[in-house]
Parts: sequence; C-alpha cells; structure tokens
Amino acid sequence: MALIDSFRPEDRPAVEALYRRVFGNDAAEASRLRWDWQYTRNPNNPPTGPAIWIAREGPAVVGQYATMPVKLSVKGEEIDASWGMDVMVAPERQRQGLGEVLFGTWDQHTGASLGLGLSLASSRLFKKLRWPDVGPVPCLVKPLTRRALRQPTWSVGLNRVVSAVTLPIVKVAGRVRRLDRTPEIVRRFDASFDRLWERVAPKFEFAVRRDAAYLQWKYIAPPHVRYIVAVLRRDGEADGYVVYRHVQEPRGRVTLLVDFLADPDDHETVSSLVAWVDREAREADSDKIRTFATHALFRKALRAAGYFQVKSSVEFVARINAVPVGPDFYKSTDSWHVTFGDSDQDR
Ligand SMILES: CC(C)(COP(=O)(O)OP(=O)(O)OC[C@H]1O[C@@H](n2cnc3c(N)ncnc32)[C@H](O)[C@@H]1OP(=O)(O)O)[C@@H](O)C(=O)NCCC(=O)NCCS
Repeated sequence: MALIDSFRPEDRPAVEALYRRVFGNDAAEASRLRWDWQYTRNPNNPPTGPAIWIAREGPAVVGQYATMPVKLSVKGEEIDASWGMDVMVAPERQRQGLGEVLFGTWDQHTGASLGLGLSLASSRLFKKLRWPDVGPVPCLVKPLTRRALRQPTWSVGLNRVVSAVTLPIVKVAGRVRRLDRTPEIVRRFDASFDRLWERVAPKFEFAVRRDAAYLQWKYIAPPHVRYIVAVLRRDGEADGYVVYRHVQEPRGRVTLLVDFLADPDDHETVSSLVAWVDREAREADSDKIRTFATHALFRKALRAAGYFQVKSSVEFVARINAVPVGPDFYKSTDSWHVTFGDSDQDR
C-alpha cells in the first residue's frame, strides 16, 4: 500500500525519472527546464516549500500530484487555492486507486482544488470523483489572413478551398480598429497593478489574485517562454494590461493573447487593449490571434473586435472547499475570470 506525504528535495531525481516514464523524454526535459521556477519560486508557496504530494512504496516514488498555490477571490472572499498539475502514477500502478487517493489528499489540503487543460485519464477521474465540471474555457479566435482557417488535419487542397471561400469574412473581421490610447510595454509589474487588482477583484465571482508579485513571477520570470506585457495607464495608474506572445504553429503563425485584466465594465480600456493586440499581431505577421476567456463581458468585447468563439479543448474543473458556495455557483462561468494564463497551460 502506498503512503502519501509531502515532496522532499531529495525526491527530485526519482520524480524526474517517473515523469520521463509517464510523459516521455521531451515533456520531461521541458518540465526540468521550468521546474525551479514553477515549484520553488511561486510567491504563493507555503513556507514549507513546493506544494507537491508524493506517493511512496518503500523508497520508491510511484506517484505525484504537484500543485500551483494561488490566492483565489470567490464571491468577494479571498481563499488559499491551488491548480493541480503534473499528476502521474507509475504505469504498473495505474487503475488501482492510487490516483483517487492523490486527488483526495490534495483536495483535503486546499481551500479550492482547480484543474485546467485535463488529459483524458484525469478528466475521467475528476468525473468519477464528481468534481464540478465547469469547462471548457471558451476559446476565441480572430482571423487576420486567409491562412487563419487552415487545419493541420485537412489536405492542402481542402485548406486552399476553405481559405478562398472565407477570405471576404476574414477581410471584414480582420480589419484594423482605431487605437484611441497607446499602451506602454513593461518588464516590471509595479504596485499600481496591486491597486488595479483591488479595484477590479469585486467584479469577478471567481478569479485568481493577479497582484504584482504573482504577475511578475508568472509572466516575466519564466525560463521557458517570453511574454510581452502592455499596460494602459491613466495618471500613472494601471487601467488594464495584456500579456501575449507570437508562436509558430504547424499551419501558421499565431499570436496568443495569454492573459489580460481590466474592469470588464470599462469598455474603452478593454477595446483599446484588444486593438493594441491586433496591431502587434499584424506587426508580427500572425495569421490569427487566439485567446481564452470565461467572462461574458470580455467575450462580448472580443466578438465586437472580430473574434469568433470556436471549439475549446481547455477543460476546467473547480471545487471550492473554504467557503460555502452551493451547486448553482458552478452553473455559469460568465462572471468568472479565467484565461489561458491560468494554471500552467502555456508551456
Ligand atoms: C491520471 C492518473 C494519475 C490516474 O491515476 P490512477 O491511479 O490510474 O487512477 P485510479 O486508479 O485512482 O482511478 C482510475 C480512474 O481514472 C480514470 N482513468 C485512469 N486512467 C485512464 C485511462 N487511461 N483512460 C481513461 N480513464 C482513465 C478512469 O475514470 C478510471 O476509472 P475506471 O478504472 O473505473 O475506469 C494516471 O492514469 C496517470 O498517471 N495517467 C498518465 C498521466 C496523465 O494523464 N496525467 C494527467 C495529466 S493532466
């Protein structure tokens, strides 16, 4: 019978070896590159260090549930919560109940257990354990060129036909909007971002606390990706920000609008930020812009700017333990703020 307890620094080689067996060499290399940043430098970590549960059999590590602690604003109250990630059980021990024990241990020790972008196996297990399923996180895409609708699974011929047929729509949706205010590119989230968060947090029923320390760690410090951060200010105070990067995908270039924050009722700031990302995407020669957003007002502003809601693959589960919420809380995420920047989706 496996014993579940906390990660110790001397577990690192065994955890890495297990990761390699379960997820393969490339994923293990990528995880190694970001591990210190992800698990030891998180400003929300408890003083005891990384929040990782380990399943042991004697001296062997046979499973883990790693987590990313965050502060979560839920209906106006701030609680300790964590995103679950990098959950794994040794192949010869899978489907014997160990995953269930790991999921349960994590859940008992956090104010809210949150999961984003699940594998088929973990999604089935969350369902079996009856975690509220609130996902997927809506995905929105703005086409900028005729290559925007290409699909890697389609033939070259089909891709050409679709590009030609949809070109008029792309031309209308992708046109450049007027930019009323120009944001500033920053490499440091200063104290005005703390004040922005304090001002806007009450607008969301559910959102991870996006204060300066969290944002600096999440979007400036990562060793594996480089983001651009643009902020709109008024009298020196941050009104809103966007975090984005440009990536080459198999069928074209994509600008990922990874995270953003503003008062959802401040249309002027939201639309100026969205228009800025358009400019940047064109400058970078992107074929489309992709983003994920739960909040209804943000999605409305994005649709008004030429984005289309498409099928999303980012599944989302959440269970709030620290405050009573009731089953209705999970019925709609229209007033929640969750983006692709949450958890460790963008890796
Ligand atoms: C996800 C994982 C940690 C679950 O651990 P586990 O010890 O196998 O889970 P349990 O034995 O407690 O629970 C089994 C349940 O999980 C789900 N499940 C586990 N493996 C599955 C698979 N390969 N396909 C579909 N469902 C699966 C099923 O609901 C299953 O119930 P069932 O056996 O009654 O159908 C483990 O399967 C694993 O390491 N998978 C590979 C890595 C992975 O996908 N990690 C998740 C990243 S988000």
